[in-house]
Amino acid sequence: MKQHVLITGTGREMALGFNFVLRYLEHGDHVIATVRKPSEALARLQQKYPDSLTVLTMDIASTESVNAAAEAVAKIAPCIDLIINNAVTTSPDTNKELEDFNLDDVSWVVDVDAVGPLRVIKAFLPLMKKCPDTALIVNISSEAGSIGKCYRSTYIDYGMAKAALNMATMTMRNKFKDDPKLNIICVHPGWMRTNEGNAKAPFDPYDHAETMRLMFEEKRHDKDGPVFVTYAGEQYPW
Ligand SMILES: NC(=O)c1ccc[n+]([C@@H]2O[C@H](COP(=O)([O-])OP(=O)(O)OC[C@H]3O[C@@H](n4cnc5c(N)ncnc54)[C@H](OP(=O)(O)O)[C@@H]3O)[C@@H](O)[C@H]2O)c1
Repeated sequence: MKQHVLITGTGREMALGFNFVLRYLEHGDHVIATVRKPSEALARLQQKYPDSLTVLTMDIASTESVNAAAEAVAKIAPCIDLIINNAVTTSPDTNKELEDFNLDDVSWVVDVDAVGPLRVIKAFLPLMKKCPDTALIVNISSEAGSIGKCYRSTYIDYGMAKAALNMATMTMRNKFKDDPKLNIICVHPGWMRTNEGNAKAPFDPYDHAETMRLMFEEKRHDKDGPVFVTYAGEQYPW
């Protein structure tokens, strides 16, 4: 059945969000791809999929922007079957040690990476509840958000933000516990070739988006299984 899928942070062709958009379009779904600024890559895709791709501006750091996007989506889609909270930011100091890290940057990174997905969930909750099946929320996390597996002394902003995103995910799993219409997971996608600096990464984002698309469908109704999972759907340590 055709799904209405909302994906955040989709404007960059090499990145994961854009490749999720591509995979869901190829699968025949209606995709609402959100961006902060216009994307030529998405504009080209819209020419190929004029009826099934909707591109919307939404800054997940702004409650006003997220709420406005939800109002716009309510006018064009009967429901939302899947949200992929993919957008992410990091501070310029992310690879630096504490001594050289501007700590004033941590709060806005946490705001975008952890509070942003919650803004999206809150605004789109009414539309998700209209889904004929169980609506699924996927928060794209990272191994960097695992406290149990933490080995770095850098990534202060990113690690804290993804750990907070994981906590937000578990908190929502608890909230949805008795609601058969809603489910949520967070995913460590693995290292992907999403930019020139990641050339040695093992995963191609286009192939990997399909691996995860299939895994999400396996998880949609699994409300008792692991909440923080790998791209293969296996439990990952908090
Ligand atoms: N790449 C990897 O190997 C890897 C590994 C582990 C986890 N992940 C996770 O996978 C996801 C995708 O990673 P990626 O490397 O493909 O990401 P990316 O290339 O950095 O893309 C993230 C997107 O988020 C958007 N964004 C930033 N701030 C935003 C805001 N306030 N509102 C809305 N959108 C915003 C960016 O938009 P602009 O273009 O406007 O800046 C960008 O297009 C992320 O959640 C990341 O943490 C990636």
